[in-house]
Amino acid sequence: MGRKDGGAARVAPPIITMFSSVRLAACLWVCTGIACFADPTTPNPNYTRTRPGGPLPDGDLTVCNIAETVLIPKCSACHKTGGQTPDLSLEGARLLVNMTGSGGAALVVPGSRDQSLLFRKVAGTHANNEGATMPPGSPLTPALVEGVGRWIDQGAVVECTLTGPLPMPERHHPEGWKEPGYHGLELKLRTSEADCRNCHGADLTGELGPSCDSCHQEGWRKNCTFCHGGTDDTSGAPPRDLSGELTALSFRAHTAHRADNKHPSYDCSTCHTKPTEVTSVGHVFDDTPGRAEVNFSGGLSAGATYLGDGRCSNLYCHGADIGGSGTGDHLAPPTCGSCHVGPASDPSTYDSLSGAHEKHLDEGLTCDRCHANTVEGSVIIGPEAHANGAVDIRFASDVPVTFGDRGCTGTCHGETHSGARWFD
Ligand code: HEC
Ligand code: HEC
Ligand code: HEC
Ligand code: HEC
Ligand code: HEC
Ligand code: HEC
Ligand code: HEC
Repeated sequence: MGRKDGGAARVAPPIITMFSSVRLAACLWVCTGIACFADPTTPNPNYTRTRPGGPLPDGDLTVCNIAETVLIPKCSACHKTGGQTPDLSLEGARLLVNMTGSGGAALVVPGSRDQSLLFRKVAGTHANNEGATMPPGSPLTPALVEGVGRWIDQGAVVECTLTGPLPMPERHHPEGWKEPGYHGLELKLRTSEADCRNCHGADLTGELGPSCDSCHQEGWRKNCTFCHGGTDDTSGAPPRDLSGELTALSFRAHTAHRADNKHPSYDCSTCHTKPTEVTSVGHVFDDTPGRAEVNFSGGLSAGATYLGDGRCSNLYCHGADIGGSGTGDHLAPPTCGSCHVGPASDPSTYDSLSGAHEKHLDEGLTCDRCHANTVEGSVIIGPEAHANGAVDIRFASDVPVTFGDRGCTGTCHGETHSGARWFD
C-alpha cells in the first residue's frame, strides 16, 4: 500500500506525542515527590549499605540501589510473583545470582556484566535468540544501564537493607492508552507495540496485561465491522482506512466490488486472505503491520497482480478475452465495453470476442439473443450471471437453439445451426 509506506499515515498521530509529554511530566513530578533517585549511583539515605566482611567501599552499589532505581519501577509490573520470570521485586532480585533464564543462560554472574543475561537484555547486547530488549518498547536510559552493569561488575552485592517508601512499578503503556482512539489505533497501525500478544496472551485473554475481553463486548473478535466498519452498506463497505478514516482509502472501489447491480457481490476473499477473527494467521499480527495484504488466489482472478495504488493487472474479471489479461484502476471505473466488446462498441473490435461472435454481431444480433440471463439490451439484468467466472449462454425464448459441446443445434434466422461450431 504505497500511501502507508512512508507517508503521513504511518506517523504517530498527535495524540500520542501529546500523551508522551504528559507522561514525562507526570514522571518528573512523581520522582521529586517521593525522592526518586534517577541515578543508581546517587547515595540514598533510605537504605544501609552493608555486606559480609564489612562496609562497602564508597561508590559500590548493592541490589538495593538497583531495585529502587531500576528493578521495581521499570521491571516489576511484569516481573512479579505469578508474572513473567524472573521475579524482580527486591526479594526476588536477591536470588538472581546463580539463577539461569529460560534459555539456560546465567542471569547475573557477579563480576561480569557481559556474562549476565539480565545486563545484556537491558543493554540490548543480547543474542538474537535471547528475546527482546528490556523493558519491552521503552529501553532504559544509559545511566540506568550503566548502574546495572556496575552493580554486577562490583560483585552483585545482595546484602542491604532498604527502608522507607518503595517506588511504584511504572505502568507499561503511556497515559491515556486505554482510550479507544489510542490503543485501538495502535492495534491497527502497530507503530509502538510489535505484537499485543507478547504480553496480553497468545489469544489475547490476558497474561502480563489484562484480557482484551475484560472491556470489549462478547463477539468483538469475530465482529468484522468492529475494526473495519464503513458506512456504505451493512457489509461494512468500504472498510475504513487502517488509520480509522474514510478519507484516504487505499482502495476506493471496495464498495463497487461489494455492492453493485452489475455483478455478484464479491467476498473479501476475492482479493484478500479472509481471516475469521482478530488472531487469524496473517491478519492483524503478521509481519507487515498497518498494511492490508492483497491476495487474489482465492478469487476469480487468481493469477492477477496487485500493482499498488489501487491498480491491478492480469485480471480475469476485467478481461477482454477472459484469459486473464485485464487491468483495473480504482480511480477509473470501467464502462460497459472497457473489459470486453460491449453492445455499443465499434464493429471493428467484434473479432476480439470468441468464435462466431463477429459473424453474428455483424448480422445485427444483440447480446441478449444468446446471453438472455445476463443482459437485456445493454442493461445487466442478471448480476449473478455476469463476471461470475462462467460464460452464461441462454438463448432468448424465441430462439429455438441449444448450445453444447462448443457448438449449436436448432434453427435460427432461417439457418439451421445443427452441427455448427462456435469455435473453428
Ligand atoms: C476487488 C478486490 C477487493 C475486495 C473484494 C476487497 N478488497 Fe480490501 N483491498 C483491496 C485492495 C486492492 C486494497 C489496497 C491494498 C494496498 O493498497 O496495499 C485493499 C485494502 C483493504 C484494507 C486497507 C484499507 C486502507 O486504506 O487502509 C482493508 C482493511 C481491506 N481492504 C479490507 C477488506 C474487507 C474487510 C473486504 C471484504 C468486506 C475487502 N477488503 C474486499 C481489494 C479488495
Ligand atoms: C511490560 C512487561 C515487561 C517489563 C516491564 C519488563 N519485562 Fe523482562 N520480560 C518480559 C517478557 C514478556 C519476557 C519474555 C520474552 C523475552 O525474553 O523477550 C521477559 C524476559 C526477561 C528476561 C529473560 C528471562 C528468561 O528467563 O530468559 C529478563 C532477564 C528480563 N526480562 C529482565 C527484565 C528487566 C531487567 C526489566 C526492567 C529493566 C524487565 N525485564 C522489564 C516482560 C517485561
Ligand atoms: C480498559 C478497557 C479496555 C481494554 C482492556 C481493551 N480495550 Fe480496546 N477499547 C476499549 C473501548 C471502551 C473501546 C471503544 C469501543 C467499544 O466500546 O467497544 C475500545 C476500542 C478498541 C479498538 C478500536 C475499534 C475501532 O473503533 O476501530 C480496538 C482495535 C481495540 N479496542 C483493541 C483492543 C485490544 C487488542 C485489546 C487487548 C490487547 C483491548 N482493546 C483491550 C476498551 C478497552
Ligand atoms: C510489553 C508488554 C505489552 C505489550 C506488547 C502490550 N501491552 Fe497492553 N498492557 C501491558 C501491561 C503490563 C498492562 C497493564 C497496565 C500497564 O502496565 O500499562 C497493559 C494494559 C493494557 C490495556 C488496559 C488499559 C490500561 O491503561 O490499563 C489495554 C487497552 C492494552 N494494554 C492494549 C494493548 C494493545 C492494543 C496492545 C498491542 C497494540 C498492547 N496492549 C501491547 C503490557 C503490554
Ligand atoms: C480488532 C480489529 C479487527 C477485527 C475485529 C477484524 N480485523 Fe481485519 N484487519 C485488522 C487490521 C489491523 C488489518 C490490517 C492487517 C495488517 O496489519 O496486516 C486487517 C486486515 C484485514 C483484511 C485485509 C487482508 C489482511 O489481512 O491484511 C481483511 C480482508 C480483513 N481484515 C477482514 C476481516 C474480517 C473478515 C473480519 C471478521 C471475521 C475482521 N477482518 C476482523 C483489524 C481487524
Ligand atoms: C469489469 C469488467 C466488465 C465490465 C465493465 C463488463 N463486463 Fe461483461 N463480462 C465480464 C467478464 C469477466 C465476463 C466473462 C464471463 C463471466 O464470468 O460471466 C463477461 C461476460 C459478459 C457477457 C456474456 C454472458 C455472461 O454472463 O457470461 C455479456 C453479455 C456481458 N458480459 C455484457 C456486458 C455488458 C452489457 C456490460 C456493460 C453494462 C458489461 N458486460 C460490462 C466483465 C465485464
Ligand atoms: C449468437 C449468439 C451470441 C451472441 C449474439 C453474443 N454472444 Fe457472447 N458468447 C456466445 C457464445 C456461444 C460464447 C462462448 C461460450 C463458451 O465459451 O463456451 C460467448 C462468449 C462470450 C464472452 C466470453 C468471452 C469470449 O469471447 O468467449 C463474452 C464476454 C461475451 N460472449 C459477450 C458478449 C456480448 C457483450 C455480446 C453482445 C455485444 C455477445 N456476447 C453476443 C454467444 C453469443
